[in-house]
Amino acid sequence: MNKIKVCVAGATGWAGSELSRGIFDAVDMELVAAISRSNAGKALDEVLGIKGFTTPIFGTVEDALNIRPDVFVEYTKPDVAKSHVLSALKSGAHVVIGTSGLSSEDYDEINGVAKEVNRGVLAAGNFALTVVLLQKFAEMAAKYIPHWEIIDYAHSDKKDAPSGTARELANRLSNIREAKLEVPLEKIDGPRESRGARLQGTQVHSVRLPGYVISIDAIFGMPDQKLILRHESGPSAEPYVNGALLAIREVGKLIGVHRGLDSVMKF
Ligand SMILES: NC(=O)c1ccc[n+]([C@@H]2O[C@H](COP(=O)([O-])OP(=O)(O)OC[C@H]3O[C@@H](n4cnc5c(N)ncnc54)[C@H](OP(=O)(O)O)[C@@H]3O)[C@@H](O)[C@H]2O)c1
Repeated sequence: MNKIKVCVAGATGWAGSELSRGIFDAVDMELVAAISRSNAGKALDEVLGIKGFTTPIFGTVEDALNIRPDVFVEYTKPDVAKSHVLSALKSGAHVVIGTSGLSSEDYDEINGVAKEVNRGVLAAGNFALTVVLLQKFAEMAAKYIPHWEIIDYAHSDKKDAPSGTARELANRLSNIREAKLEVPLEKIDGPRESRGARLQGTQVHSVRLPGYVISIDAIFGMPDQKLILRHESGPSAEPYVNGALLAIREVGKLIGVHRGLDSVMKF
């Protein structure tokens, strides 16, 4: 069997290290390159403590791409993610984006380049199966209930706001319609920020406090009734591994940007 050759940018981080362990255990893929500035020059076994995990760690994306991976996984930081992804596409790799915080404009630009070079990009703000289900249920609800808002909760040191999960959900709901507002934002009596950010037709509120890990509420309201779809994740990065492995397996069949893991799942 030809193994899928994978490069993980951010392989030593919270999410990337768990994914790297998953790739090490997968029989159909091989981690051929890892990227971390602070561990450049080492092998992954020195950092992750897995015997025989000899994947080299590079300090830059350019050096890692010389290895010619089939799939490049971006799991670093929003401010560098777009340039990493564009370099990977231009080198001929398909790309899986786990990093959150990229804007719709960033995805438009990435989509243009991916189509030009005939490569696929699969981006998911959250690879957990339970989040994919929340997204699907929310899409169903938005067809019947015109009023909704999103609240995303995270630990106090999470820099990106709204979360990737909230952005992705707002993006999906915008394909159904815009959430209705009874009082238009310009007619609010008080600070406009109190109504949150309007993101692709949805009001999104981000709470950043110690004590939270990551959770999200999609609240659908109708007179005298409401539906609250809530997702909560624990402190480990394990929920994101299987979904990311599926994305690595499937992205080679795609062209252009596809957002959400469900684009390669059957329902
Ligand atoms: N899609 C999902 O399901 C999912 C799940 C979890 C997290 N995330 C997202 O994934 C991203 C990473 O989260 P995390 O918690 O794993 O972060 P983290 O623990 O801080 O890890 C970041 C990793 O990226 C590397 N890195 C940082 N800046 C870099 C740069 N300029 N060039 C190359 N490597 C760089 C770091 O290594 P060095 O500092 O040594 O370079 C480290 O290996 C965030 O955007 C987060 O929201 C998504």
